[in-house]
Amino acid sequence: MSNKLLEVKDLEKVFHLGGRFFGSKLKAVNKVNFDLDAEKPEILTFAGETGSGKTTVARMILGLETPTSGEVIYKGRNVTHIKKRKELLEYMKEVQPIFQNPFETFNPLKKVDSYLFEMAENYEIAKTKEEKQKGVEESLNSVGLTLKEIKGRYPNELSGGQLQRVSVARALVTRPSLLIADEPVSMVDASLRMSIVNLFAELKTKYNVSVLYITHDLATAYYISDRIAIMLRGDVVEFGDIDKVMLSPLHPYTQILLESVPQPDPEGTWKEDIKLSSLEVKEFSRLGCKFYERCPFAMKICKDVEPPYVFKDGREVKCHLYSEEIKNTEKSEETVN
Ligand SMILES: Nc1ncnc2c1ncn2[C@@H]1O[C@H](COP(=O)(O)OP(=O)(O)O)[C@@H](O)[C@H]1O
Ligand code: SF4
Ligand SMILES: [Mg+2]
Repeated sequence: MSNKLLEVKDLEKVFHLGGRFFGSKLKAVNKVNFDLDAEKPEILTFAGETGSGKTTVARMILGLETPTSGEVIYKGRNVTHIKKRKELLEYMKEVQPIFQNPFETFNPLKKVDSYLFEMAENYEIAKTKEEKQKGVEESLNSVGLTLKEIKGRYPNELSGGQLQRVSVARALVTRPSLLIADEPVSMVDASLRMSIVNLFAELKTKYNVSVLYITHDLATAYYISDRIAIMLRGDVVEFGDIDKVMLSPLHPYTQILLESVPQPDPEGTWKEDIKLSSLEVKEFSRLGCKFYERCPFAMKICKDVEPPYVFKDGREVKCHLYSEEIKNTEKSEETVN
């Protein structure tokens, strides 16, 4: 039995573009690798600007997008291309998504409690009506709600914060080991964000649930995460302990990201309209560092040579500044930007 909960190995996604970029390919995710421990639940954040590939990583893990290459292993089982309904159901029972916009997750004409009962039904969580009711109540209690509070109510009768709690409760009905939450608080009032992310921290400690937290919001990420992966144009450019990366960032992109702290993109959803800029396509297709055009420290080598991962000061960083081979040659040259 593997002691890993999740292993993501060399995961890649190439999209074939249409429209004005017809005929071009875009590698939205480039060889992403990470593990989650089965014994020690954790909150791992994926952060980076819009279009860096975060949602595509999440969708591939959830089986909503087929990887171009690479593997997703869950508890030692390869789940990259599960086809059989029974196996898929078993996997989905353990790995649950939390969607971005609670107002889109719930049909305005459907009572919110019915979603929780449907989960219990679809995943065959309980046999009797009483057992189902108990399971639903427990899930709601673990997010600070009761069945009495939400029973018979429609989405518009609840606040955004309450509704997002219900969607977390819904995901918990199957007693998952991993939640994949893509921008779960970007549509929630700023004043309530902290209470929702605190919930993830609580689920981790109380119920051993790991969370893949995808966000623009570096403040909440810092508050709850154990580790963080910074993504840029499909690459994880810096990855490691949250304190190391956020308090002493090494990658020039992480440094700039932390200075600017971007705002959430309220339009961004799991199936957003794809609008690409020329710079984006250029950066994605660059052989060398994807940050070359924008990096204040760019050197000649950065243009065409893909930076290697260097293990430095408790994290991995994908930048030529830290690679030994060029330490004494290129680095002494002037920067190009
Ligand atoms: N279905 C698709 N077809 C073509 N390009 C896509 C598709 N989905 C995503 N992309 C592109 O892949 C890149 C990564 O997108 P995404 O994973 O949504 O990034 P993020 O979640 O970090 O904003 C973006 O440039 C996006 O435009
Ligand atoms: S590899 Fe070069 S261009 Fe890329 S971040 Fe490092 S110094 Fe900047
Ligand atoms: Mg996204």
